[in-house]
Amino acid sequence: MTILVTGARGHVARSLVQQLLAAGQPTRAAGRNPGAVRLPAGVETVLCDLADPDTFDAALAGVTRVFLYAEPRGLDDFLTRAATAGVEHIVLLSAMLADPAATDAISRLHGDAEQAVARSGIAWTFLRPGAFATNTLQWAPSVRAEGVVRDPFPDSRSAPVHEADIAAVAARALTEPGHEGAAYPLTGPELVTRRRQAELIGEAIGRPIRFAVQDLDEYRAELCGWTTPQVADVVIRESAAAVDRPAPATDTVEKVIGRPARTYGEWARDHAGDFRDEPS
Ligand SMILES: NC(=O)c1ccc[n+]([C@@H]2O[C@H](COP(=O)([O-])OP(=O)(O)OC[C@H]3O[C@@H](n4cnc5c(N)ncnc54)[C@H](OP(=O)(O)O)[C@@H]3O)[C@@H](O)[C@H]2O)c1
Repeated sequence: MTILVTGARGHVARSLVQQLLAAGQPTRAAGRNPGAVRLPAGVETVLCDLADPDTFDAALAGVTRVFLYAEPRGLDDFLTRAATAGVEHIVLLSAMLADPAATDAISRLHGDAEQAVARSGIAWTFLRPGAFATNTLQWAPSVRAEGVVRDPFPDSRSAPVHEADIAAVAARALTEPGHEGAAYPLTGPELVTRRRQAELIGEAIGRPIRFAVQDLDEYRAELCGWTTPQVADVVIRESAAAVDRPAPATDTVEKVIGRPARTYGEWARDHAGDFRDEPS
């Protein structure tokens, strides 16, 4: 009856583990370096590298439900072994624009992962979040050091979703009937511009934050520090398009968990420490 939560160091998975434990669900937190995962004492942890099939069988022993990150490298192997181990339901962390025929790499990766899970014969639920509120943690170093947010798109709009709301939907899908075969587009409750996000961070930490319009080449170079040039170009294209044509907010979080999704202002208050203090 155990629920396996992969990628337990991640923001969504960490929140999910806490919510499942609070609900009294038998939970196993899995990651590539389980010793480094900051979780409540006593949580069962296990090594599971989604790119390394040798780690799958021990992680899946006795598991009936899985929260899965979309890591393509070992996915088919993972699904075969999950079916053999008796897994009955997989909740996949996918993405809003998941599409195996998409021209951009992020949407295609998530679309391929969805197709693989659907082919596995195991019941599934797809979580399709739009932009994560945690993406703006990339602003934390300059906010802490200089009180500045640097970004080329002050008027780009999105409805950033709180990791705890993605996790809350995942927890429902993993623990109640009725979510099999559902694909949930998940966003925050309202559209906000990036300039307004910076203001809300300032309100959360109690000091005004300046928004500096960043040079596009500098921004692209920064993105290329953590992702491929192709993905950087997708991020830039979508950010620019979202000035006039933002993806609308959805009410799926509220429909699934019975209360409205958290606003970006609430997220900023929950993460005020990240913008105020050096990370420990
Ligand atoms: N950022 C967005 O706006 C956005 C939007 C839609 C969907 N998404 C999806 O959400 C994911 C990021 O979620 P997040 O914010 O919770 O992540 P995060 O905090 O950035 O952490 C990344 C997670 O991915 C896990 N991971 C990566 N490679 C792995 C592997 N080979 N085996 C096991 N786990 C692996 C890491 O696991 P370890 O604990 O083992 O290090 C870690 O938990 C992305 O992968 C993307 O698929 C993101």
